[in-house]
Amino acid sequence: MICIAAGTFHDRICFQFTVRIATFISLLFAAFLAGRKALAAGVRVPSEMRVEVLPQRAPDPKNNPTSPGKVALGRLLFFDPIVSPTKEVSCATCHHPRFGWGDGRATPIGVGGSGLGPERKFLAVNSLAPLTRNTPTLLNVGFNGLVAGALPNPEYAPMFWDARMHGLENQALAPLRSREEMRGDGCAEVDAVEQVVRRVQAIAEYRELFSKAFGQPLNEVVTAEHLTQAIAAFERSLVSEGTPFDRFLLGDKSALNTEQQRGLRVFQDAGCTQCHGGPMFTDYKLHFIGTLDDTADGRREFRTPTLRNLRDTGPYMHNGSQRTLRDVLIFYEALADAVAETLDGGDTAKQPPLDPLLKALNLNADDFAALEAFLDSLNDDRYDRTVPGRVPSGLPVAQ
Ligand code: HEC
Ligand code: HEC
Repeated sequence: MICIAAGTFHDRICFQFTVRIATFISLLFAAFLAGRKALAAGVRVPSEMRVEVLPQRAPDPKNNPTSPGKVALGRLLFFDPIVSPTKEVSCATCHHPRFGWGDGRATPIGVGGSGLGPERKFLAVNSLAPLTRNTPTLLNVGFNGLVAGALPNPEYAPMFWDARMHGLENQALAPLRSREEMRGDGCAEVDAVEQVVRRVQAIAEYRELFSKAFGQPLNEVVTAEHLTQAIAAFERSLVSEGTPFDRFLLGDKSALNTEQQRGLRVFQDAGCTQCHGGPMFTDYKLHFIGTLDDTADGRREFRTPTLRNLRDTGPYMHNGSQRTLRDVLIFYEALADAVAETLDGGDTAKQPPLDPLLKALNLNADDFAALEAFLDSLNDDRYDRTVPGRVPSGLPVAQ
């Protein structure tokens, strides 16, 4: 597409234009599929859950238009351990391109650990509370909130497994304040952000990069707001390119083989698109599907995760309890039986009531292979995996 001039009015129009074309094409396709589908299984899917092509650019909030300078600065900050009060952990400790911008672990280790990904271990016994939620991928995170036919407002984009926070700019400071993720006992929670800003300010190379990116004088430009804006602009640049599935929707019928095309039908017949629909294969809503949280708040409803790029983002579910995609499918097959117990007049004392949408769940082990083949078509092999060779603090970068 012709989206070149970054951060301009043209850019925004261009984005909307791309979305409209994509919407139109996938509308035609979805109407065709929906006709067959709804008849086949009687699964009714709301229009915002139509499967659609992913737009090529994530939308920016009004007060933080993207630019190449912000993205480049954000990448450095993201990989620089100077952004943690302990100077040991960077955002990339848990969101690394080697692990699909997640960490390849069931649950992460931040402060007090050594190594990367599944090999990361605590260096010594400590008093840190274990982190209980699986690290989500940041690939396509700029699309959080996107469903078919409507552009999301990036300021309200849901963040976290329980959607307790909104907007990438707001989210960026949360890990710095968290004792277990990045802060440790390096400083008090209320001082964490200020301390990091002061340290970044003290590095001349950062002052220059901030000044160029935000067009303000060297001595005023390193602020918490600009720090979050640069990191968020970088995160929005992590967009997956066309997958075989997107190419298929755009008219290249050879992009999916017969097994994958059957898998797409199974996916829709099984009722998956009720929650995993739209361009990101998620409604971004909270549902209880039987995965219980054993943490203090005992939460049951979790945000539907995207099904794009699953090849690189296991283990799965909010607690990383499912190791492989086959495990997830076995889980759903058993869930279909549990639904009869709790939603169709069974013994609700056994389990809190599951999401009513699960009534339409209809999955057989015979279809697992086709479903896996279809989910595989949602992977993009060419996404940005660039790790900076060095960062301005001179601290080591996790390669
Ligand atoms: C110790 C590991 C760890 C570190 C370090 C870390 N994160 Fe995360 N990140 C997580 C986990 C775990 C979650 C999910 C938490 C939840 O849902 O409660 C998460 C969630 C997120 C999300 C929300 C994604 C979504 O779709 O909901 C964003 C954005 C994010 N992190 C960005 C960052 C940034 C930016 C940094 C650095 C400033 C960072 N993270 C540092 C582990 C980490
Ligand atoms: C009622 C809504 C709903 C339906 C229907 C549904 N899912 Fe999910 N799905 C979810 C939620 C919510 C989660 C996250 C649960 C958790 O983390 O505890 C999830 C998690 C997943 C995951 C794990 C992804 C990850 O990154 O952790 C996969 C894979 C998945 N679903 C596939 C499917 C398939 C295939 C179907 C159809 C057979 C399906 N889902 C039907 C809501 C739904």
